[in-house]
Amino acid sequence: MNRICEPELMLEPIQARAYAEADFNGSDRAFTTRILTLLAAPAATQAERPPLRIVDLGCGPGNISFRLASAIPEALLLGIDGAAAMLEAARARQALEPRRWPGLRFLQGRLPLAPEALAGLSTPFRPPYGLLVSNSLLHHLHDPAVLWGSIQTLAAPGALVVVRDLRRPMTETAVRGLMRRHAARAPVVLRRDFSHSLRAAFRPREVADQLKAAGLSHFTVKELGDRHLEVVGRLA
Ligand SMILES: C[S@@+](CC[C@H](N)C(=O)[O-])C[C@H]1O[C@@H](n2cnc3c(N)ncnc32)[C@H](O)[C@@H]1O
Repeated sequence: MNRICEPELMLEPIQARAYAEADFNGSDRAFTTRILTLLAAPAATQAERPPLRIVDLGCGPGNISFRLASAIPEALLLGIDGAAAMLEAARARQALEPRRWPGLRFLQGRLPLAPEALAGLSTPFRPPYGLLVSNSLLHHLHDPAVLWGSIQTLAAPGALVVVRDLRRPMTETAVRGLMRRHAARAPVVLRRDFSHSLRAAFRPREVADQLKAAGLSHFTVKELGDRHLEVVGRLA
């Protein structure tokens, strides 16, 4: 099955609301646990010395940002997304408990970021970052090199990178199977987006080729479960 791109930014308010209200707890918890496990590994570098600076690329309503900010309260975390409707959901959640995540900020910006995009941030939230994470952004990008280039621009030497995304099924029958298994009772807009995202996603081989072209061939790509892939690596 060939890749079919979907719109990059999730701009529709109804789409952002459905996404923000959906229950991604299982997979979000698993991704956060994986990040924390990798951070605790003995390979930790200078880039991770406290206070750890984290960036969450394509943060959406902040599902992963909030989890990481809760798990590492001393960290400084910047969530970046190009869609105002998504960031509205993230900021609304933060406003409910204004003192709970003092090290968390959200920024509206479309990758690749213009050089001046981060200028308004206070210094601690500016690059370079010691941990760069991204969940379900890659398949949105019409040009996937935008993610790998942005990571290289924003990362500190030795920074840890953890990316998780959907992977494209081999056939339309497999798309329908995943829809039945994971979105049977989801709202119509979420089902639409899930099917579009599966068709827009990359296969592990394609991601490995992207990494090679970006000079990141030492990063590892692996399949996870029935629909995800993971990319992990450290900047030189
Ligand atoms: C499927 S959502 C994932 C949200 C979040 N990472 C999570 O874990 O739930 C993908 C997000 O990437 C954002 N996005 C897509 N292309 C982007 C770009 N070029 N720059 C910034 N954000 C982008 C979309 O607006 C959307 O909010």
